[in-house]
Amino acid sequence: MKGIILAGGSATRLYPLTTVTSKQLLPLYDKPMIYYPLSMLMLAGIREILIISTPTDTPKFEGLLGHGEKFGIKLSYAVQEEPKGLGQAFIIGEEFIGDDSVAMVLGDNLFYGNGLGHMLRSAANNEGRATIFGYYVDNPSDFGVVEFNRDGIPVSIEEKPKKPKSNYAVTGMYFYDNRVVDFAKKLIPSERGEYEITDINRMYLELGDLDVQLMGRGFAWLDTGTVDALLDAANFVRTVEQFQGIIISAPEEIAYNMRWISKRKLLESAQMYGKSNYGEHLKRVASGKILYSKNVGERPYWGRDDDEDE
Ligand code: G1P
Repeated sequence: MKGIILAGGSATRLYPLTTVTSKQLLPLYDKPMIYYPLSMLMLAGIREILIISTPTDTPKFEGLLGHGEKFGIKLSYAVQEEPKGLGQAFIIGEEFIGDDSVAMVLGDNLFYGNGLGHMLRSAANNEGRATIFGYYVDNPSDFGVVEFNRDGIPVSIEEKPKKPKSNYAVTGMYFYDNRVVDFAKKLIPSERGEYEITDINRMYLELGDLDVQLMGRGFAWLDTGTVDALLDAANFVRTVEQFQGIIISAPEEIAYNMRWISKRKLLESAQMYGKSNYGEHLKRVASGKILYSKNVGERPYWGRDDDEDE
Protein backbone atom coordinates (compact mmCIF):
# COMPACT_ATOMS: atom_id res chain seq x y z
CA MET A 1 0.00 0.00 0.00
CA LYS A 2 1.17 3.52 -0.85
CA GLY A 3 0.45 6.66 1.15
CA ILE A 4 -0.33 10.26 0.26
CA ILE A 5 -0.19 13.30 2.51
CA LEU A 6 -2.10 16.20 1.07
CA ALA A 7 -0.55 19.39 2.40
CA GLY A 8 -1.76 22.00 -0.06
CA GLY A 9 -4.26 24.83 0.22
CA SER A 10 -3.79 28.46 1.07
CA ALA A 11 -5.18 28.35 4.66
CA THR A 12 -6.48 31.91 4.44
CA ARG A 13 -8.36 31.41 7.71
CA LEU A 14 -4.96 31.41 9.41
CA TYR A 15 -3.61 34.61 7.79
CA PRO A 16 -1.18 36.24 8.54
CA LEU A 17 0.32 33.02 10.00
CA THR A 18 0.25 31.33 6.63
CA THR A 19 1.07 34.21 4.29
CA VAL A 20 4.60 32.96 3.60
CA THR A 21 4.48 29.40 4.85
CA SER A 22 2.36 26.34 4.58
CA LYS A 23 -0.12 25.59 7.35
CA GLN A 24 1.19 22.04 7.58
CA LEU A 25 4.65 23.37 8.46
CA LEU A 26 3.40 25.44 11.38
CA PRO A 27 4.33 24.21 14.83
CA LEU A 28 1.87 22.02 16.66
CA TYR A 29 3.41 22.50 20.11
CA ASP A 30 6.83 20.88 19.68
CA LYS A 31 6.98 19.65 16.10
CA PRO A 32 5.85 20.68 12.62
CA MET A 33 2.24 19.76 11.93
CA ILE A 34 3.11 17.31 9.15
CA TYR A 35 4.90 15.01 11.63
CA TYR A 36 1.48 13.96 12.95
CA PRO A 37 -0.12 12.72 9.69
CA LEU A 38 3.24 11.27 8.60
CA SER A 39 3.24 9.24 11.81
CA MET A 40 -0.25 7.93 10.98
CA LEU A 41 0.78 6.50 7.61
CA MET A 42 3.90 4.99 9.15
CA LEU A 43 1.85 3.42 11.95
CA ALA A 44 -0.32 1.87 9.24
CA GLY A 45 2.87 0.19 7.99
CA ILE A 46 3.19 2.33 4.85
CA ARG A 47 6.73 3.03 3.61
CA GLU A 48 6.25 4.74 0.27
CA ILE A 49 4.72 8.15 0.71
CA LEU A 50 3.95 11.02 -1.64
CA ILE A 51 3.65 14.52 -0.24
CA ILE A 52 1.52 16.86 -2.33
CA SER A 53 1.73 20.59 -1.74
CA THR A 54 1.73 23.97 -3.46
CA PRO A 55 4.42 25.05 -5.94
CA THR A 56 6.07 27.31 -3.34
CA ASP A 57 5.77 25.03 -0.31
CA THR A 58 6.78 21.65 -1.78
CA PRO A 59 10.54 22.47 -1.59
CA LYS A 60 10.11 23.41 2.09
CA PHE A 61 8.64 20.00 2.93
CA GLU A 62 11.51 18.42 1.05
CA GLY A 63 13.95 20.52 3.09
CA LEU A 64 12.33 19.34 6.31
CA LEU A 65 11.81 15.66 5.57
CA GLY A 66 14.20 14.86 2.72
CA HIS A 67 13.67 11.57 0.95
CA GLY A 68 12.77 9.68 4.09
CA GLU A 69 16.11 8.00 4.88
CA LYS A 70 16.01 9.02 8.52
CA PHE A 71 12.55 7.47 8.85
CA GLY A 72 13.41 4.28 6.96
CA ILE A 73 10.84 5.15 4.30
CA LYS A 74 10.75 6.57 0.76
CA LEU A 75 9.32 10.05 0.40
CA SER A 76 8.53 11.73 -2.89
CA TYR A 77 6.92 15.02 -3.74
CA ALA A 78 4.36 16.36 -6.19
CA VAL A 79 2.81 19.75 -6.78
CA GLN A 80 -0.87 20.66 -6.78
CA GLU A 81 -0.93 23.80 -8.91
CA GLU A 82 -4.24 25.02 -7.52
CA PRO A 83 -6.27 23.82 -4.54
CA LYS A 84 -8.98 22.01 -6.48
CA GLY A 85 -10.02 19.52 -3.83
CA LEU A 86 -8.90 16.37 -2.10
CA GLY A 87 -10.10 14.09 -4.88
CA GLN A 88 -7.46 15.54 -7.19
CA ALA A 89 -4.69 13.94 -5.13
CA PHE A 90 -5.35 10.56 -6.75
CA ILE A 91 -4.98 12.04 -10.22
CA ILE A 92 -1.77 13.88 -9.32
CA GLY A 93 -0.56 10.69 -7.65
CA GLU A 94 -1.70 8.27 -10.37
CA GLU A 95 1.78 7.25 -11.47
CA PHE A 96 3.01 7.01 -7.89
CA ILE A 97 0.06 4.78 -6.92
CA GLY A 98 0.58 2.48 -9.92
CA ASP A 99 -1.30 -0.78 -9.32
CA ASP A 100 -1.30 -0.44 -5.53
CA SER A 101 -3.90 0.35 -2.94
CA VAL A 102 -3.47 3.77 -1.32
CA ALA A 103 -4.14 5.61 1.91
CA MET A 104 -4.47 9.36 2.10
CA VAL A 105 -4.23 11.55 5.16
CA LEU A 106 -4.76 15.30 5.29
CA GLY A 107 -1.66 17.18 6.37
CA ASP A 108 -3.56 19.14 9.00
CA ASN A 109 -5.34 16.31 10.80
CA LEU A 110 -4.16 15.09 14.20
CA PHE A 111 -5.18 11.73 15.61
CA TYR A 112 -4.32 10.29 18.99
CA GLY A 113 -5.42 7.25 20.96
CA ASN A 114 -4.42 3.89 22.30
CA GLY A 115 -4.72 1.15 19.70
CA LEU A 116 -4.59 3.60 16.81
CA GLY A 117 -1.78 1.67 15.11
CA HIS A 118 -3.85 -1.51 15.21
CA MET A 119 -6.87 0.31 13.77
CA LEU A 120 -4.79 1.76 10.95
CA ARG A 121 -3.15 -1.55 10.09
CA SER A 122 -6.57 -3.26 9.90
CA ALA A 123 -7.74 -0.55 7.52
CA ALA A 124 -4.59 -1.00 5.42
CA ASN A 125 -5.30 -4.75 5.23
CA ASN A 126 -8.96 -4.35 4.27
CA GLU A 127 -8.37 -5.50 0.70
CA GLY A 128 -10.66 -4.63 -2.16
CA ARG A 129 -12.68 -2.11 -0.14
CA ALA A 130 -12.48 1.44 1.22
CA THR A 131 -12.18 2.32 4.90
CA ILE A 132 -12.89 5.72 6.40
CA PHE A 133 -13.41 6.83 9.99
CA GLY A 134 -16.44 8.40 11.64
CA TYR A 135 -16.10 10.65 14.68
CA TYR A 136 -18.86 12.21 16.81
CA VAL A 137 -18.84 16.04 16.62
CA ASP A 138 -21.11 18.92 17.64
CA ASN A 139 -20.63 20.77 14.36
CA PRO A 140 -21.17 18.15 11.62
CA SER A 141 -22.00 20.81 9.01
CA ASP A 142 -18.30 21.69 8.87
CA PHE A 143 -17.33 18.24 7.60
CA GLY A 144 -18.20 15.29 5.45
CA VAL A 145 -21.08 13.60 7.30
CA VAL A 146 -21.90 9.91 7.30
CA GLU A 147 -25.29 8.51 8.27
CA PHE A 148 -25.62 4.98 9.72
CA ASN A 149 -28.66 2.69 9.85
CA ARG A 150 -29.78 0.75 12.95
CA ASP A 151 -27.22 -1.95 12.17
CA GLY A 152 -24.33 0.53 12.09
CA ILE A 153 -24.02 0.28 8.32
CA PRO A 154 -23.34 3.56 6.44
CA VAL A 155 -26.29 4.59 4.29
CA SER A 156 -25.46 8.11 3.12
CA ILE A 157 -22.54 10.49 2.97
CA GLU A 158 -22.69 14.21 2.28
CA GLU A 159 -20.15 17.04 2.15
CA LYS A 160 -20.80 19.86 4.60
CA PRO A 161 -24.60 19.44 4.59
CA LYS A 162 -26.71 22.34 5.88
CA LYS A 163 -29.00 19.79 7.50
CA PRO A 164 -26.70 16.98 8.62
CA LYS A 165 -28.29 13.54 8.92
CA SER A 166 -26.03 12.56 11.83
CA ASN A 167 -23.34 13.88 14.16
CA TYR A 168 -20.69 11.66 12.62
CA ALA A 169 -17.98 13.56 10.78
CA VAL A 170 -15.68 11.84 8.32
CA THR A 171 -12.09 12.32 9.44
CA GLY A 172 -9.26 13.23 7.08
CA MET A 173 -7.82 9.73 6.75
CA TYR A 174 -8.89 7.41 3.95
CA PHE A 175 -7.88 3.91 2.81
CA TYR A 176 -8.75 2.80 -0.74
CA ASP A 177 -8.12 0.02 -3.18
CA ASN A 178 -6.73 0.82 -6.63
CA ARG A 179 -10.16 1.73 -8.06
CA VAL A 180 -9.86 5.12 -6.38
CA VAL A 181 -7.81 6.41 -9.32
CA ASP A 182 -10.62 5.66 -11.79
CA PHE A 183 -13.23 6.99 -9.38
CA ALA A 184 -11.26 10.24 -9.03
CA LYS A 185 -11.26 10.63 -12.81
CA LYS A 186 -15.06 10.48 -12.83
CA LEU A 187 -15.43 13.39 -10.39
CA ILE A 188 -17.08 16.61 -11.44
CA PRO A 189 -16.41 19.78 -9.44
CA SER A 190 -18.88 20.53 -6.65
CA GLU A 191 -20.64 23.84 -6.08
CA ARG A 192 -17.55 25.14 -4.28
CA GLY A 193 -15.52 24.18 -7.37
CA GLU A 194 -13.66 21.26 -5.78
CA TYR A 195 -13.17 17.59 -6.59
CA GLU A 196 -14.69 16.22 -3.41
CA ILE A 197 -13.40 13.13 -1.66
CA THR A 198 -16.92 12.71 -0.32
CA ASP A 199 -18.07 11.96 -3.89
CA ILE A 200 -15.44 9.22 -4.11
CA ASN A 201 -16.62 7.79 -0.79
CA ARG A 202 -20.19 7.85 -2.10
CA MET A 203 -19.14 5.78 -5.13
CA TYR A 204 -17.75 3.12 -2.77
CA LEU A 205 -20.85 3.39 -0.57
CA GLU A 206 -23.20 2.83 -3.49
CA LEU A 207 -21.28 -0.30 -4.46
CA GLY A 208 -21.50 -1.56 -0.87
CA ASP A 209 -17.72 -1.34 -0.63
CA LEU A 210 -17.34 1.37 2.01
CA ASP A 211 -16.48 0.46 5.60
CA VAL A 212 -16.85 3.21 8.16
CA GLN A 213 -14.91 2.50 11.35
CA LEU A 214 -15.97 4.43 14.37
CA MET A 215 -13.29 6.32 16.20
CA GLY A 216 -14.73 6.10 19.67
CA ARG A 217 -14.32 8.23 22.78
CA GLY A 218 -10.86 6.88 23.47
CA PHE A 219 -9.59 8.71 20.43
CA ALA A 220 -8.88 12.34 19.82
CA TRP A 221 -9.29 13.78 16.35
CA LEU A 222 -8.33 17.40 16.21
CA ASP A 223 -8.85 19.96 13.56
CA THR A 224 -6.39 22.81 13.01
CA GLY A 225 -8.41 25.01 10.68
CA THR A 226 -8.64 28.16 12.80
CA VAL A 227 -6.20 29.91 15.13
CA ASP A 228 -8.20 28.73 18.13
CA ALA A 229 -8.30 25.14 16.91
CA LEU A 230 -4.57 25.34 16.27
CA LEU A 231 -3.89 26.52 19.81
CA ASP A 232 -6.27 23.94 21.28
CA ALA A 233 -4.52 21.16 19.36
CA ALA A 234 -1.10 22.39 20.56
CA ASN A 235 -2.37 22.49 24.14
CA PHE A 236 -3.74 18.99 23.75
CA VAL A 237 -0.34 17.68 22.64
CA ARG A 238 1.35 19.56 25.47
CA THR A 239 -1.04 18.12 28.06
CA VAL A 240 -0.58 14.53 26.86
CA GLU A 241 3.19 14.86 26.59
CA GLN A 242 3.67 16.59 29.92
CA PHE A 243 1.42 14.22 31.85
CA GLN A 244 2.96 11.15 30.34
CA GLY A 245 6.53 12.40 30.03
CA ILE A 246 6.75 11.16 26.46
CA ILE A 247 6.58 12.60 22.96
CA ILE A 248 3.72 11.59 20.67
CA SER A 249 3.83 11.19 16.89
CA ALA A 250 7.60 10.96 16.55
CA PRO A 251 8.25 9.34 13.14
CA GLU A 252 11.77 8.21 14.12
CA GLU A 253 10.37 6.30 17.09
CA ILE A 254 7.79 4.58 14.90
CA ALA A 255 10.47 3.73 12.33
CA TYR A 256 12.70 2.24 15.03
CA ASN A 257 9.91 0.15 16.54
CA MET A 258 8.94 -1.05 13.07
CA ARG A 259 12.59 -2.10 12.59
CA TRP A 260 12.89 0.22 9.61
CA ILE A 261 15.93 1.97 11.12
CA SER A 262 18.77 0.83 13.34
CA LYS A 263 19.55 2.14 16.80
CA ARG A 264 22.59 3.90 15.34
CA LYS A 265 20.36 5.83 12.96
CA LEU A 266 17.90 6.66 15.71
CA LEU A 267 20.71 8.08 17.82
CA GLU A 268 22.01 10.06 14.86
CA SER A 269 18.59 11.71 14.62
CA ALA A 270 18.51 12.29 18.37
CA GLN A 271 21.84 14.08 17.98
CA MET A 272 20.50 16.20 15.13
CA TYR A 273 17.58 17.38 17.25
CA GLY A 274 20.08 18.81 19.71
CA LYS A 275 19.01 19.58 23.24
CA SER A 276 15.29 19.57 22.50
CA ASN A 277 12.86 17.35 24.39
CA TYR A 278 12.25 15.60 21.10
CA GLY A 279 15.92 14.61 20.84
CA GLU A 280 15.96 13.51 24.49
CA HIS A 281 12.89 11.39 23.87
CA LEU A 282 14.57 9.59 20.97
CA LYS A 283 17.51 8.80 23.24
CA ARG A 284 15.11 7.30 25.79
CA VAL A 285 13.50 5.24 23.03
CA ALA A 286 16.93 3.88 22.06
CA SER A 287 17.59 2.85 25.67
CA GLY A 288 14.73 0.33 25.44
CA LYS A 289 13.25 1.54 28.72
CA ILE A 290 9.83 2.53 27.42
CA LEU A 291 6.90 0.13 27.70
CA TYR A 292 4.51 -0.03 24.77
CA SER A 293 1.02 -1.42 24.56
CA LYS A 294 -0.53 -2.59 21.32
CA ASN A 295 -4.14 -2.97 22.29
CA VAL A 296 -6.24 -2.72 25.37
CA GLY A 297 -6.19 -6.14 27.01
CA GLU A 298 -2.81 -7.13 25.59
CA ARG A 299 0.29 -7.35 27.71
CA PRO A 300 2.64 -4.37 27.31
CA TYR A 301 6.10 -4.97 25.88
CA TRP A 302 9.44 -3.24 26.24
CA GLY A 303 10.88 -1.16 23.44
CA ARG A 304 13.65 -2.78 21.44
CA ASP A 305 17.26 -2.30 22.38
CA ASP A 306 19.32 -3.70 19.52
CA ASP A 307 21.01 -2.25 16.51
CA GLU A 308 19.58 -4.34 13.72
CA ASP A 309 17.24 -2.94 11.14
CA GLU A 310 15.48 -5.34 8.83
C1 G1P B 1 -12.22 17.93 4.17
C2 G1P B 1 -13.26 16.98 3.58
C3 G1P B 1 -14.33 16.65 4.62
C4 G1P B 1 -13.66 16.08 5.88
C5 G1P B 1 -12.58 17.05 6.39
C6 G1P B 1 -11.78 16.41 7.51
O1 G1P B 1 -12.82 19.17 4.43
O2 G1P B 1 -13.83 17.59 2.43
O3 G1P B 1 -15.23 15.71 4.09
O4 G1P B 1 -14.65 15.85 6.87
O5 G1P B 1 -11.67 17.39 5.34
O6 G1P B 1 -10.79 17.29 8.01
P1 G1P B 1 -12.03 20.55 4.09
O7 G1P B 1 -10.76 20.50 4.85
O8 G1P B 1 -11.83 20.56 2.61
O9 G1P B 1 -12.95 21.64 4.55
